[in-house]
Amino acid sequence: MSLLVRWFVFAALVLLAGAVAFAPLVMRTKATAALRAEAAPARVRLMRWAMLLAAVAFALEFVVRLLDGAEATRDAVLFAVQLALLGGMALVLRNERDEPRILVAASAALILTQSLSSRSASRPEWVLPVLADWIHFTFAAVWLGGVAYFAIVLVPVALRQSQLLSDLGATIEKFSPLAILSVLVVGLTGIMQSASFVGSFEALLNTDYGRALLVKTGLFAVLIGFGAFHQFVISPQLRAWRARAQSAYDAARRFRISIAAEAAVSALTLAAAAAMTVLPTANLGP
Ligand code: HEM
Repeated sequence: MSLLVRWFVFAALVLLAGAVAFAPLVMRTKATAALRAEAAPARVRLMRWAMLLAAVAFALEFVVRLLDGAEATRDAVLFAVQLALLGGMALVLRNERDEPRILVAASAALILTQSLSSRSASRPEWVLPVLADWIHFTFAAVWLGGVAYFAIVLVPVALRQSQLLSDLGATIEKFSPLAILSVLVVGLTGIMQSASFVGSFEALLNTDYGRALLVKTGLFAVLIGFGAFHQFVISPQLRAWRARAQSAYDAARRFRISIAAEAAVSALTLAAAAAMTVLPTANLGP
């Protein structure tokens, strides 16, 4: 039960990060402006859904933690902060304002509340581990949230209006540096956390925690492969829409399938991450 709820919390935060941050971070140039404008209503709908899912996920997590007899006061405070942040975001959206900075800051703060209730927060010297966990999760959320944003919002919009295919190709290209940075940061902070929670190479192979980490690292490599395929194969074909419309359209349909597959692998990666957070660590630590 707690594994499913944890996965739900992770998935909702990733969806929210993608809906909130992708357009302001990635779609800032003229080459992507038409697609950004056309996708704006779908983006607002996705933000609302993601906020609702996050509220339900946090409530379920709060109940599970109470039943587990964890630290009730800390959990109640964090839950209240989560609801306040989501309420504030809902108000911003309700007033028909799209304030990217406020929404991005609120999403990052929501991820921080998760890190503050993670295993890292119960270590005696908790500040640096919590910081590493927050950076790890934030970059993972921006990256995989971007994948979800392509799959749910951008691809359906671009397939409806083929003159937007070139913008879609440009968006993949613009996403690439952010995705590469995320891979580096997630990898580095992941190694830092593994050093604390996995005692030895044997423990990596012989404990459930270690095996979940190996599965997650394998899926991480698969996600990098998808990213390279989209950047080097799909994006150039989409960008050539004016010269070769049919081949661009075929590439968009292939992209629809491969980005959906990448989103499914992302969901599995989050399941492996969730499993790690509910399993005992692979050493004698907390
Ligand atoms: C796309 C790839 C990845 C995603 C989506 C991901 C996601 C996450 C998430 C959501 C958490 C939990 C954060 C929290 O509860 O506050 C986490 C924790 C962690 N991650 Fe990752 N991660 C990825 C890759 C990696 C890699 C490559 C490594 C190791 C090299 C790694 C090692 C860890 C460790 C050790 C933890 C701490 C788990 C615990 O609290 O026991 N992660 N990750």
